[in-house]
Amino acid sequence: MSETLKNIAKSFIGESIAAVKYSLFAEIAEKEGLIEAKNLFIKTAEQEKNHAKIQFKFLSELCGKKDLETLKVEVNIPVQLGDTIQNINAAINGEIYEFKNMYPDFAVKAEKEGYSDIAAKFQALARAEEGHAEKYSLLMKKIKNR
Ligand SMILES: [Fe+2]
Ligand SMILES: [Fe+2]
Repeated sequence: MSETLKNIAKSFIGESIAAVKYSLFAEIAEKEGLIEAKNLFIKTAEQEKNHAKIQFKFLSELCGKKDLETLKVEVNIPVQLGDTIQNINAAINGEIYEFKNMYPDFAVKAEKEGYSDIAAKFQALARAEEGHAEKYSLLMKKIKNR
């Protein structure tokens, strides 16, 4: 199985987890009365869900071509839930890892394996995650300066 296929699967899982986690973070922010944080988590969760959908479609197409019905990959799942400050920090760290390491690595591998279209998609995702990191960082500053 190509490394790219596994990386798309990892991306699908990571994006799905991010969508669920940000939804949970939004609930916590709401309880703490941090409405701006709640709104940003909800908006970003929706975007992560869209990323997951895109990756699932790629995965489905590629697996279809290879006559694969299921895929097996190993992933690390970050399992901590904190208060909103901790959750924004976790979100920033996750986004930074994605745009600085994960997606650029995935893009290089996809290019090497001849999947230029998928490499471009990984690069586009890296840029989207960079935008998320910036928005969360800005939010963190605002909350700390209150
Ligand atoms: Fe994403
Ligand atoms: Fe993101």
